[in-house]
Amino acid sequence: MNRLANFCAGPASMPTEVLLKAQAELLDWRGKGVSVMEISHRSADYIEIATKAEQDLRKLMGISDDYAVLFLQGGASLQFSAIPFNLLNGGTADYLNTGTWSEKAYKEAKRYEALGLGKINLVAQGDGKDVPNADVWQLSDNASYFHYCPNETIHGVQIFDTPKVNAPIVADMSSCILSEPINVNDFGLIYAGAQKNIGPAGLTLVIVRKDLMEQASAWCPNVLNYKNQAENDSMLNTPSTFAWYLSGLVFEWLLENGGVENIAKINRAKAELLYQAIDDSSFYHNAVNPKHRSIMNVPFTLADSELDKVFLEKSKEAGLLNLKGHRIVGGMRASIYNAVTLKQVQALVDFMKDFEKSYA
Ligand SMILES: Cc1ncc(COP(=O)(O)O)c(C=O)c1O
Repeated sequence: MNRLANFCAGPASMPTEVLLKAQAELLDWRGKGVSVMEISHRSADYIEIATKAEQDLRKLMGISDDYAVLFLQGGASLQFSAIPFNLLNGGTADYLNTGTWSEKAYKEAKRYEALGLGKINLVAQGDGKDVPNADVWQLSDNASYFHYCPNETIHGVQIFDTPKVNAPIVADMSSCILSEPINVNDFGLIYAGAQKNIGPAGLTLVIVRKDLMEQASAWCPNVLNYKNQAENDSMLNTPSTFAWYLSGLVFEWLLENGGVENIAKINRAKAELLYQAIDDSSFYHNAVNPKHRSIMNVPFTLADSELDKVFLEKSKEAGLLNLKGHRIVGGMRASIYNAVTLKQVQALVDFMKDFEKSYA
């Protein structure tokens, strides 16, 4: 078996133990003679898989019965639409932009002003390197909700403290969910595309406070309607059954390995190791305000961008994959999600030091 270190931003590295388990039961799930992907989502066997995944996630994140947990499709991007359809309710929603993803969410929601769903207000615009200070935020009175992205995957900008606002907080946690303990009760709605810390692409998680599900616009498409989905156990139509099952295996893996508290310690150690290596060198550079450096996505540039291509070739040869940064930011990016091990981050740091010695 030749599993290499995969620093892809998403779809991202999966825990090897999970893939081995899925492999072992792929052809014949628990003696049933069929694969999970070949059974009805309405069968008792599948309902057991789906229910267990939800229970395990509730345990991992401490999600109370005040919240519905939905296993949907369409990616985090479809939630950019679903959120205003469900929550705007003729009012004004506040959007804090700190990078590409929060900006995309803002722009998508803004389109629905024309439909009369309500108003979308830009609270502040970040520069992709820092987060505008809360004292310059232009918050609305009685906003329907406040939207932000705690971890900007492309820019590597993370907001660690939950914003202090009066409106229900809606958070795009696509690239930081399950990386650190959070207090779910601080949020009105949390959503995430699965393909980073949860499982394979094709599944979107929505955790929504039940009282917020009562105000969807009459124009809200049925499958985007949280209340409809909750009442139908996320099975209004055929869900992404195999991705849901694999995500359930990831939740089991996390629980068996000390839960979110333990993975958070490892995540902190990984991020510290990598940022330290960058800061100790004048060859590598990370442009983000240290207070807001992401512990999941670490972008960095080389002193000479002419060397980017060589860096990528050599790192690939060394078994370190997918380090190319997003074109918006350039340079490199190491995504060090839950399934990336400390040993793999150490291997990256060792490689970076050797590369600097040879090329600086
Ligand atoms: C923070 C964040 N939000 C939204 C998205 C879009 O997710 P999807 O491709 O599932 O629509 C991404 C994808 O990388 C992301 O990182």
